[in-house]
Amino acid sequence: MKRKVTKAIFPVAGLGTRFLPATKSIPKEVMTLVDRPLIQYAIDEARAAGIKEFIFVTSRGKSALEDYFDHANELESHLRRTGKTELLEILKSTNMDSGAIAYIRQHKALGLGHAVWCARRLIGNESFAVILPDDVIAAETPCLQQMIEAHAEVGGNMVAAMEVPPEKASAYGILDISNDMGSMVAVKGMVEKPKAEDAPSNLAVIGRYILTPKILNNLNRMKSGAGGEIQLTDAIAEEIRRSNNVYGYRFRGQRFDCGSKAGFLQATVAFGLARDDLRAEFEQFLYSLTALRRAAE
Ligand code: G1P
Repeated sequence: MKRKVTKAIFPVAGLGTRFLPATKSIPKEVMTLVDRPLIQYAIDEARAAGIKEFIFVTSRGKSALEDYFDHANELESHLRRTGKTELLEILKSTNMDSGAIAYIRQHKALGLGHAVWCARRLIGNESFAVILPDDVIAAETPCLQQMIEAHAEVGGNMVAAMEVPPEKASAYGILDISNDMGSMVAVKGMVEKPKAEDAPSNLAVIGRYILTPKILNNLNRMKSGAGGEIQLTDAIAEEIRRSNNVYGYRFRGQRFDCGSKAGFLQATVAFGLARDDLRAEFEQFLYSLTALRRAAE
């Protein structure tokens, strides 16, 4: 029987410069979508997929992120004393078991591949997941869980994939497909941020990965690639050449690029509308807003 994937790496060392000035004093990952920090969505998705060990690759200035996952004992006893059981339950659902989270520092911003490599000793010799919290995916079955189920069939390495318009290819890792099987594709190459005319397809990598420990070996030898950074894409591409066991997985769900302001706003609207306690009022507001704008045109 294949060993279960129980470890996930969360690269959260980025400076978040696209969200300045907000990120001057708060890490991007604790910025909130409705009422939960971005990182909570990633953690919930990982938990749903059976992840037990959460490895954060952080950097200077991310202490708010570490505090967020600490138990808030004073707050909890206050809520208990005042009988606010619903809030208490919400708060408790964010608590992590002692020892479930590990923090590793990436001392220099050398790229995503380097961030993942920083966690190598905690991963050891087993397959692991990587979640980029900027990519928020709304789905009935959480994306990583879909992938874990598909991965149980084929093994090897798997990346989440989604079609993007050709002019957007240069923002993604792009797959070169050898066999399109529908929700799953066999991959014969991967290029990080190609120019539109060099993109081998329009299938882009989205920030969910299930990887074999061999990727970490490849990262040992990796030189800097696109943008002068050590790229995870290049280490996966090398694994295609060595073992030919890389798959793309077209997940079912809607992905929001919360690394961009427009994407963050879209996610805020979508998640707000998905909430039973907010929908009616929020929908009404959006409706009158658009009606007003139309009337003004
Ligand atoms: C990273 C990866 C890229 C992937 C993207 C998905 O790029 O390097 O291959 O397509 O995430 O969001 P970044 O967005 O960090 O530049």
